Amino acid sequence: MEAADQVLIIDDSQQRRHDLSTIIEFMGYHTKAISSAYWEDAINESDQHNFCALFLGDYLQAENSMQAMVARIQCWSGGVPVIRISEPLPENLQSSLRRQVIARIDWPCNRNQLLSCLHYGQVYKEQWRHLHNTGMNQQVELFKGLVGKSDKMRKVRADMAQVADSDVNVMVTGESGTGKELVARNLHEHSSRRDMPFVPVNCGAIPNELLESELFGHERGSFTGAVQTRIGRFELAHGGTLFLDEIGDMPLHMQVKLLRVLQERTIERVGGSGQIPVDVRIIAATHKNLAEMIEAAEFREDLYYRLNVFPIEMPALRERPEDIPLILNELVGAMEKQNRGSIRLSSAAILSLCRHEWPGNVREMSNLLERLAIMYPYGVVGVQDLPQNFRHMEMLDDDDGVAELFPDSIQPAGHGKVDDLAILPVGGINLKEFLTRLEKSLIQQALSDCNSVVARAADKLQIRRTTLVEKMRKYSLQRYEETMR
Ligand SMILES: Nc1ncnc2c1ncn2[C@@H]1O[C@H](COP(=O)(O)OP(=O)(O)OP(=O)(O)O)[C@@H](O)[C@H]1O
Ligand SMILES: [Mg+2]
Repeated sequence: MEAADQVLIIDDSQQRRHDLSTIIEFMGYHTKAISSAYWEDAINESDQHNFCALFLGDYLQAENSMQAMVARIQCWSGGVPVIRISEPLPENLQSSLRRQVIARIDWPCNRNQLLSCLHYGQVYKEQWRHLHNTGMNQQVELFKGLVGKSDKMRKVRADMAQVADSDVNVMVTGESGTGKELVARNLHEHSSRRDMPFVPVNCGAIPNELLESELFGHERGSFTGAVQTRIGRFELAHGGTLFLDEIGDMPLHMQVKLLRVLQERTIERVGGSGQIPVDVRIIAATHKNLAEMIEAAEFREDLYYRLNVFPIEMPALRERPEDIPLILNELVGAMEKQNRGSIRLSSAAILSLCRHEWPGNVREMSNLLERLAIMYPYGVVGVQDLPQNFRHMEMLDDDDGVAELFPDSIQPAGHGKVDDLAILPVGGINLKEFLTRLEKSLIQQALSDCNSVVARAADKLQIRRTTLVEKMRKYSLQRYEETMR
């Protein structure tokens, strides 16, 4: 486990502190859960580097103590992202903490929300490190929606952070559906041009004879059908970003014209006579191999060098299976936000999807989820429910006995299945150890709910009293009668 894999929970609700820390530990993090009265004593100087996120819940101390807490965590090195639970923070604190509060979650929350928060926390820390290593003194920015914790995606985000706020031309390459347009939009959103237009042009989808007028516009009467003067995409994008998608499909004669525009920074409308200055930043994208096209004299080398000032290569999904659960989560979240329905995937189904080759990359994944949401609206999808070509596992019974071990108090809203809390890591899991921790935690909760009266706790867990006593002995848990002596 990495050094910064500890989650700090400061919350004066004892139950929630306990529940949240149980859920987060199931996700493979260490937690430190404390109340507002004791947090300062509980954390020493060396601890602050270990936290990847702070979940901040109820804080019942005086307001100046909360101010002091905020001031202190802002001094922590490593940029600890804060996730607020439940209520928004008081206005004055909210503004001083603004750069650090990355999310607010409702309680009870579900595993997907927690996963997203922890993921964004990780992105936040990466960005923090990047800015502090490169000495850039600007706002910490997050490339929202572009998720993935693989080294390859981290590199993409680091490259993006380096080039976003500049006028350098960027070339995004990668297979179909890998997120090239998403990168282009994010670069625009994180540049000083963000308040000006982002104009996409799919060079492959526009018929050759119309491409010139589409890009540069035309004067009335310049060709048959040009009944009115129309401005082109270059002029529309003035001050903003022009996204030349599928640049590899641009015919050679247009490549020559484009090169001239890029050199001179002016355009001429079809049938027009004057040069019109344009200020656009160009981001181009293609799934084709331009180097091979240059060899075959299908793409101009001079244009290539103009466009490819800063290359960003999008990795195929099969090269980064560790990103698959996060992207699934992101896509399901996006569906929910847009009221396009929702589904939950069982751990086995997620594992099966991690083994899929994904020739159509994230777009294929997004299409699959849409399809599943129609077939199983708001349902839990197991391996057997996936279309045949997505099944790469033995059929597993997703409802094995473990599911009923979860008590109401830690069930996220919705389903009470084990899948809602436990996600099988791509690298596997020590099942025995996991189940032991799970069992111990649930027994502790049952005992605490029942004031340590063993017979009632046994009822709650639906096991025999003698079985519970046995397990308590195994886990060195004391019972009421003993603690009172
Ligand atoms: N890392 C990611 N995290 C979350 N969603 C992603 C990610 N990458 C891509 N997507 C989503 O996948 C879909 C396809 O992305 P996009 O259109 O940017 O790909 P593309 O490379 O331009 O594809 P194509 O070559 O088919 O045009 C979009 O809905 C996008 O939001
Ligand atoms: Mg695209």
